[in-house]
Amino acid sequence: MYDSGKVIIGLVIFFGFFTFAFWYNMGKAAPAPKPKLDTPVIKKMVKKQCIESTHFMRTTHMQLLNHLRDQALRQGNRWYTNKRGEKVWISLQNTCLKCHSNKKEFCDKCHNYVGVDPYCWDCHFDPNRSKL
Ligand code: HEC
Ligand code: HEC
Ligand code: HEC
Repeated sequence: MYDSGKVIIGLVIFFGFFTFAFWYNMGKAAPAPKPKLDTPVIKKMVKKQCIESTHFMRTTHMQLLNHLRDQALRQGNRWYTNKRGEKVWISLQNTCLKCHSNKKEFCDKCHNYVGVDPYCWDCHFDPNRSKL
């Protein structure tokens, strides 16, 4: 027959490992990152807002960037009209990174937290890289 003591110990160990991540993190979930907004350009803005609403940017900037790229390159139209009716020049480095000139403290901060590493910078240039 089998040794029920060992089976139980095995089960306890298995269960412990299986749920480790859950109870290890109990009460101390990693704090969400706070992307920094204190860049020279943003400091000077009277109304501190992105090219679309904060919620939209937070949740949808990846799709928006794809859309902007397609509009700029496939349709040859580099003026994006946002939901407020303002025209925004489409450029990853000269528009996004003009305001968010702290890529490391802004874009990278969130991306490191969620573990994404956009490959955009293989080709696109971060004009402030040397300063950070
Ligand atoms: C005119 C300056 C300006 C430009 C250009 C700009 N942003 Fe922003 N962005 C801001 C400001 C200011 C905020 C913070 C708004 C707030 O706190 O409500 C922000 C917020 C964001 C957020 C949300 C941050 C959070 O805390 O959740 C993301 C993501 C973002 N921007 C990405 C981009 C991308 C990508 C581009 C280029 C397509 C871009 N921004 C262009 C000024 C700008
Ligand atoms: C508030 C947090 C936050 C900020 C700030 C932020 N991102 Fe993101 N970004 C994310 C998250 C979360 C994802 C992953 C979304 C997913 O996997 O669906 C992402 C994904 C992306 C992607 C798609 C990557 C992929 O592999 O799918 C691009 C491109 C991107 N971000 C560009 C930027 C740029 C450029 C900036 C700075 C101007 C920026 N992001 C700032 C949270 C942020
Ligand atoms: C293999 C190289 C390469 C990679 C990787 C790449 N791009 Fe580009 N991208 C280009 C080139 C080349 C252009 C055209 C530049 C021009 O005509 O001004 C461009 C243009 C763009 C434009 C419109 C114009 C501009 O200056 O911003 C956007 C927006 C853009 N890319 C977003 C992205 C995003 C977001 C990523 C990452 C998810 C990315 N690209 C990855 C090469 C690349």
